[in-house]
Amino acid sequence: MNAKITASKSCQIDKIDRRIYGSFIEHLGRAVYNGIYEPTHKDTDDCGFRRDVLELIKQLNIPVVRYPGGNFVSGYNWEDGIGDKSKRPCKLDLAWLSVETNEVGIDEFQEWARRAGTDIMMAVNLGTRGPDEARNLIEYCNSSTSTYYANLRRQNGFAEPFGIKLWCLGNEMDGDWQICHKTAEEYGRVATETAKVLKWVDPSIELVACGSSDPNMPTYGEWERTVLDHTYDYVDYLSLHCYYGNKAKNTPDFLARAEDMDKFIKATADICDEIKAKKNSDKTINLSFDEWNIWYRTKDEEKTMQRWQIAPHLLEEKFNFEDALLVGCMLMTLQNNCDRVKIACLAQLVNVIAPIMTENDGPAWRQTIFYPYMYASLYGNGTTLKAVTESDSYRSSDGFDAPYLYSSVIHNDERKEVVVFAVNRSLTEDIELQIKLDGFDGYTLKEHIELYSDDINATNTIDNEKIKPQVRKIKGESPISLKKHSWNMLIFKY
Ligand code: AHR
Repeated sequence: MNAKITASKSCQIDKIDRRIYGSFIEHLGRAVYNGIYEPTHKDTDDCGFRRDVLELIKQLNIPVVRYPGGNFVSGYNWEDGIGDKSKRPCKLDLAWLSVETNEVGIDEFQEWARRAGTDIMMAVNLGTRGPDEARNLIEYCNSSTSTYYANLRRQNGFAEPFGIKLWCLGNEMDGDWQICHKTAEEYGRVATETAKVLKWVDPSIELVACGSSDPNMPTYGEWERTVLDHTYDYVDYLSLHCYYGNKAKNTPDFLARAEDMDKFIKATADICDEIKAKKNSDKTINLSFDEWNIWYRTKDEEKTMQRWQIAPHLLEEKFNFEDALLVGCMLMTLQNNCDRVKIACLAQLVNVIAPIMTENDGPAWRQTIFYPYMYASLYGNGTTLKAVTESDSYRSSDGFDAPYLYSSVIHNDERKEVVVFAVNRSLTEDIELQIKLDGFDGYTLKEHIELYSDDINATNTIDNEKIKPQVRKIKGESPISLKKHSWNMLIFKY
């Protein structure tokens, strides 16, 4: 099959905010304990953080990590995780029916984030708690005053503020599974009042209000409108969450979920602008897609597992090759919507629905989705171009027109390169791709990285990394051959 991409230097979507390559670590399963933190492991640093995990995370060059939840945050008392570890309480975590030892809290996590070279996106508890505890937390984290919580941080050994710049006002408050779930009215009010006190303590921060936890929530749309009616003047971003799956084992439909994500983003941006118009505001609310991934095999596990374990094996989704293709497509959807999506978090990072897995007391390894995420983060920087794609398409059973060629084109002015990410969604045919780049004199294809497997269900395991990128030989300039069901990154230099 033939396909063509035409892009021009002057026809741009927007500059990519690197925070779209963020991730997420929740106190859930083995994400923290036996994930990033395992003091008894043979390869740990002086703080008990796993060095092998840190090394893999550094390969991903992650700009920001959301913490400490997720559903967990809606029952969390942040004070349980600071100061002398021997005095910290062990508590029931009602979100995941587990036991939280509190060995890791913000004291440790900010140190881990520094070592991982990433910023923190901090979530506050608007479930069991409210503005008071949130303002104490931000004083503890960010204040240099000589006041109780800032002094408590100093007593705990941290003279300098942590300087956390991005804050989430709760998590998925629209969902009845959430501890102390709220109506849109109730949430809109408490989010507004919490936003006010947080920004009074530190005016330099940015705030994310909770949007819907899934586009199929019955309250989707009305939730956003009501929440924004209350919070519009006080927050900077509205969140979106979405997880996709392939229970029906229909790969073409599954790969077309990237279109669904695109629709969700555009519809939510339209709602933000509707409220902007209603309020006659000059301010634009942008989007934070702060939970996205593939997750269906291990959903609702906590309901059937043995309750009240410490660091149980929970939500340890084993990703296959088709999952890597969709994750690649979803990253392109984020890049192609970079005019509105300024933050996004692959949920999650270690062990829990994650690109990185660990064995307790054993090695760490990469799942199939690690690579499209890594290449997007390393090479998807600069300005997304508004490319025109000509490709045959198919119709998914839920009505999306899905071109076989799914792509994004990014111009990196500093590196004098144009990077094309492309997935061939055909299960049977290779694509012969022509690429025309206007305004890039003498552009030549320098690198073609491919992720391919004959077996769409192939997975990586602890001792066999079957799915890993290959460097393709560059034969001639054009057309470029993209194998059936493959992910590709093409780097042009000019
Ligand atoms: O990422 C796993 C869970 O998914 C999060 O805790 C919650 O916010 C979402 O429902």
